[in-house]
Amino acid sequence: MTDKATLTLGEARIELPIIIGSEGERAIDIRDLRAQTGHITLDPGFGNTGSCESAITYIDGDAGILRYRGIPIEDFAASPNFGEVAWLLICGSLPTADEYDAFSTDLTRFANLDEGMKHQFEGFPRNAPPMAILSAMINALSCFHPELHELEDEGQFRIASARLISKIRTIAAYAFRHSRGLPYIYPDPNLRYVPNFLHMMFSQPYKQYVCPQMVRDAMNLILILHADHEQNCSTSTVRVVGSSGANLFASCAAGVCALWGPLHGGANVEVLTMLEEIHHGNMTPEDYVKLAKDKDSKVRLMGFGHRVYKNFDPRAKMLGEVAEKILPRLCGNDPLLDIARRLEEIALSDPYFIDRKLYPNVDFYSGILLRAMGIPTNMFTVMFSIGRLPGWIAHWWEQHRGHGQRIARPRQIYTGETQRPYVPIDQR
Ligand code: SDX
Repeated sequence: MTDKATLTLGEARIELPIIIGSEGERAIDIRDLRAQTGHITLDPGFGNTGSCESAITYIDGDAGILRYRGIPIEDFAASPNFGEVAWLLICGSLPTADEYDAFSTDLTRFANLDEGMKHQFEGFPRNAPPMAILSAMINALSCFHPELHELEDEGQFRIASARLISKIRTIAAYAFRHSRGLPYIYPDPNLRYVPNFLHMMFSQPYKQYVCPQMVRDAMNLILILHADHEQNCSTSTVRVVGSSGANLFASCAAGVCALWGPLHGGANVEVLTMLEEIHHGNMTPEDYVKLAKDKDSKVRLMGFGHRVYKNFDPRAKMLGEVAEKILPRLCGNDPLLDIARRLEEIALSDPYFIDRKLYPNVDFYSGILLRAMGIPTNMFTVMFSIGRLPGWIAHWWEQHRGHGQRIARPRQIYTGETQRPYVPIDQR
């Protein structure tokens, strides 16, 4: 559906098509703007700029709505199954029983890493950031599967997707084991996605980790809630890198790097640091909120605020409920949860946060839950990557298959020196 927008520039008046999405979102299509007017638009951070049309995820930031291929995320909570949602995001519909069985079989059979990859972990220092290892090893993975560099065939793409989604767990677990000087634990083909990951993380050669059902359900839901989020920073990075023709592995490795930032996926680590800082008595929740409101402090209330959600992030609500439900059973009374609740209570009644529509986001509760399951803080953003991978893959493929896709190459407004001569060094 289209409508028209009229732009007047001096004497010139031009009409620009308006594109209307399936949920009524409206965009002024400016792809011919420069040719028609000699002008470009400027929108630092792209807060007002759409990069593409996509059919994968819909967010209504004012209503706090998040849907994957039209299905509200709340619908996945009853029996959370990350593999099923990964298929939904990548293939467009929920899998039939046969499709799900075949996908699960692939996830199981692809879990091992080539032995040649294992030795590469040894090359990293024990204190290497796990996100650096994850990005490097996803790229390294493509060296062992050169046949997956060129993905035109849907069947090949699905194999590459299953390989990546399966092996990211093994890479993450081996990075953790290496950091602790522990022996690598091979994947167990008798275990499903989440229990197999936690087995590789926490089993010992002499003692198998057994995943409690409530941990399995909570971890499946955490991964589901991180699985996609339309054109967020890391997904846009995957699309930009993929737009040059870079292969799926290289594009997802770039997504890991973007997600690492403390304003994006790295925020879950910063939330824990903030809660620990308050817990260890450096300051009260009230003190911290006061600091976060002070521009000069450079401190932010981590886990709060969002570019799109100007209401509650529905994921934060769901994770907050899971935390209330399982934390007392997992680790008794967790003082960090009490502090998080207090911060939320203070901020939600403070005009500074109300006026700026700053609410808890997905990162606010995820760290407390991951910590209660034994995931170390420096692995939180790795967990976010495991969850977000199907979304990155779905967007890469949507763009790769899209008609008229062009390499991403934004313009700029130059504000530097006007032309001046080169001056030889002996005259400067
Ligand atoms: C994720 O895009 C996605 O979808 C991301 C994500 C996904 O699933 O992929 O949802 C995952 O990245 C969640 C966000 C995690 N990041 C954090 O929790 C870090 C803390 N939050 C902020 O840094 C900030 O809210 C952002 C980065 C999330 C959003 O930044 P914006 O949209 O660029 O907003 P802004 O920085 O322009 O802030 C607007 C105002 C400013 O004050 P004024 O200049 O108007 O007076 O709000 C203030 C900011 O100072 N502000 C905060 C704040 N967040 C914004 N003040 C204190 N604490 C905060 N957390």
